Amino acid sequence: MAFGLFKKKENKVPEVKTGFLNLKVKEVIRETEDAVSIHFEQPEDGTLSYKSGQFLTVVANVNGKEERRAYSLCSSPFVDAYPAVAVKRVEGGIVSNYLNDSVSAGDIVKLMEPNGNFTTEFTSSNERHVVLFGGGSGITPLMSIAKSTLDQEPNSKVTLVYANRNKESIIFNEAIKEMSADDRFDVIHVLEAVTSEFECHEGYLSQDIIGDVLKSIEIGKAEIFICGPTPMMDLTLSSLSSLGIPDSQVRKESFVSAAATKEENVNDGELVAREVTIIYDGDEYKYTVEPNETILEKGLDEDVDLPFSCQSGLCTACRGKCLTGKVKMDEDEGLSEAEINEGYVLPCVSHPLTDDVVIEIG
Ligand SMILES: Cc1cc2nc3c(=O)[nH]c(=O)nc-3n(C[C@H](O)[C@H](O)[C@H](O)COP(=O)(O)OP(=O)(O)OC[C@H]3O[C@@H](n4cnc5c(N)ncnc54)[C@H](O)[C@@H]3O)c2cc1C
Ligand code: FES
Repeated sequence: MAFGLFKKKENKVPEVKTGFLNLKVKEVIRETEDAVSIHFEQPEDGTLSYKSGQFLTVVANVNGKEERRAYSLCSSPFVDAYPAVAVKRVEGGIVSNYLNDSVSAGDIVKLMEPNGNFTTEFTSSNERHVVLFGGGSGITPLMSIAKSTLDQEPNSKVTLVYANRNKESIIFNEAIKEMSADDRFDVIHVLEAVTSEFECHEGYLSQDIIGDVLKSIEIGKAEIFICGPTPMMDLTLSSLSSLGIPDSQVRKESFVSAAATKEENVNDGELVAREVTIIYDGDEYKYTVEPNETILEKGLDEDVDLPFSCQSGLCTACRGKCLTGKVKMDEDEGLSEAEINEGYVLPCVSHPLTDDVVIEIG
């Protein structure tokens, strides 16, 4: 976990969907110089079912290799007629650049069904203050949550604190301006550099700014959602903790795993080659996982068509339940405490610790 003070929220174990779908691109909108939003037609046989804050997994063939990446839905299932994602380029990144450069209206994109726990239930009787801290592409799930709250909860308010490099890099700037017409919605922009007249804080997001935002909010009613680059998320989490905000009121989603930036795991001898059993789609597979492999990695090598997306322990697309035995997870960011207690594991970051590991997926 990237930040030690954050306690996992106890929540209901959500269903993980593992099916694929093909959606036709309705429109691609260039939101900023390095980000596009991709709007999809609804599936031919109905309406895509998803929750605000969830993500789709894009399955793309780039340079002859299948790649999978998670992209949060920025649309609201209550407000927007068409589901949409927004993708910001990552320097040297395979899929984000492919989607920015090569996808256009009429294309068919292969996706995995919506998944993810970074969501909330919307009820018209709610009277809460939804506070969203976003940075860069982290706006995507927050935008969906903001729109759904305003649409579904007449007595709730939304405050968005949105950090970016400069005005030109603000994804959804116009849409956010339009949302500000609703007096239940407030936005506070934080820009590293201010190049033209624009109401914002100049510099980086800081504990002072976060403290000021919270002063105008009834803390008991606050539900806080955080999504953005790791330093911004760590700063927000530590500030909220110092300001005495209970962990139970804070949710976060990371787009990059701590494991991905960590040095290779040191194997202190606890990992040895062990056979695992995977039950998936009614079939049983047995294979041996070497110490330098994950259970998912080896399964894919063995041509077992297991579900996956981020391969970093973040998205839960690969989630399974460990029925017997023990595994070591390099990262468990994607799982809630309830899921861990119930024995759920993420094969993409898991290694068998005992000889009797049986994992049921789906
Ligand atoms: C649950 C979830 C939801 C996501 N939602 C969105 C979204 O709505 N919009 C969006 O643009 N992205 C989102 N992402 C990130 C996205 O899945 C990809 O990781 C990102 O687009 C980079 O993929 P790539 O193929 O271009 O880069 P890769 O080829 O995979 O990586 C290239 C290099 O960039 C680094 N890197 C990977 N991702 C990032 C990142 N996000 N920031 C900085 N460096 C990175 C890698 O470590 C590597 O060194 C989400 C990720 C997760 C797990
Ligand atoms: S593939 Fe995303 S958590 Fe395993």
